[in-house]
Amino acid sequence: MYGGAVPPCVAFLVLLGGLYPSLAIRSFPVGRGVDGRGDLRFSEAPEYRNGPQCPRRGRYDGGAFDAADSCDASLVHIAMTLDSEYLRGSIAAVHSVLRHASCPENIFFHFVSAEFDPVNPRSLTRLVRSTFPSLNFKVYIFREDTVINLISSSVRQALENPLNYARNYLGDILDPCIGRVIYLDSDVVVVDDVQKLWETPLTGSRAIGAPEYCHANFTKYFTDGFWADPVLSRVFRSREPCYFNTGVMVMDLVRWREGNFRKSIENWMELQKKRRIYELGSLPPFLLVFSGDVESIDHRWNQHGLGGDNVRGSCRSLHPGPVSLLHWSGKGKPWVRLDENRPCPLDHLWEPYDLFKPAAVNTGGLLPGFSSYLA
Ligand SMILES: *[C@@H]1O[C@H](CO)[C@@H](O)[C@H](O)[C@H]1NC(C)=O
Repeated sequence: MYGGAVPPCVAFLVLLGGLYPSLAIRSFPVGRGVDGRGDLRFSEAPEYRNGPQCPRRGRYDGGAFDAADSCDASLVHIAMTLDSEYLRGSIAAVHSVLRHASCPENIFFHFVSAEFDPVNPRSLTRLVRSTFPSLNFKVYIFREDTVINLISSSVRQALENPLNYARNYLGDILDPCIGRVIYLDSDVVVVDDVQKLWETPLTGSRAIGAPEYCHANFTKYFTDGFWADPVLSRVFRSREPCYFNTGVMVMDLVRWREGNFRKSIENWMELQKKRRIYELGSLPPFLLVFSGDVESIDHRWNQHGLGGDNVRGSCRSLHPGPVSLLHWSGKGKPWVRLDENRPCPLDHLWEPYDLFKPAAVNTGGLLPGFSSYLA
């Protein structure tokens, strides 16, 4: 579709985090915190090793690193964003994936970070490396100007973050050799072996798989103006659309690239700029392009909504049924509520994966109210 070349509007840089980790570490000055931000400190995660049943892979021996190949199709490939605001969530999500994987060394993470993040992508790379010394990963830089002019205001400002739209561009950002990827939001924890999700077949010509929620009221994701327009609403005429959440998706990137789905999504975003057809951020264009044509994955893989609604972030309970992945979609994030000492009951399920180290108080004087905490 692109004649082999990356479209001019989409240019990306890659930091090699997985291939040459020791080099990556050495080339960045190791100083205090990240970019002087002493508030971003994480404990080193325990080392998670493959079980004996796993296919043999390169592994860290304390010095040399027999790195996994980012193109190796026998690995489980996971894409996530990496930014200063949700970093604590991303780190916990990675930790949870490793902890529950039967073959953690056979997982490769593809992190997408924003060019103009207050913490630059190199520092984020260094931070991931120091937290997970033997992790297979690569950091890609997402140029926000790829998408910035396509973003419309939405019901919650956080949804307007350009990095929220990085999932539209995975087919362009990730190496062309990557044919399949699991996309995960940063506000999830996986509590099951991710290999099972990876092995989900995408039948027919389906490009994505996700849990579907056919009882949700689909109408409310689009404006009255959208439904009143006979031409627009006809998009669903030959499908039976169901709501799905884009925070957990199995994506066939070969079909994605062939189908030019990035462009289809962008077309809807352009229309949204001209006339308002939905209220949420990056989700509705996915519904427009894929609803009714999504491989339905077991609901256990996206117990979503734990962050509450988009306005108040109230506490929610789990949906009935088994749980393989918990997702704090909505306004409330578990790390924020825990820090503010007003956690929801389910936030305690996130806590064991948290590797954040609160910054040491660097002055002689203790902050009022912290003395007993520090004693
Ligand atoms: C679905 O949502 C729309 C728009 O919010 C509303 O008008 C309609 O009554 C709802 N339908 C049901 C069955 O709840």
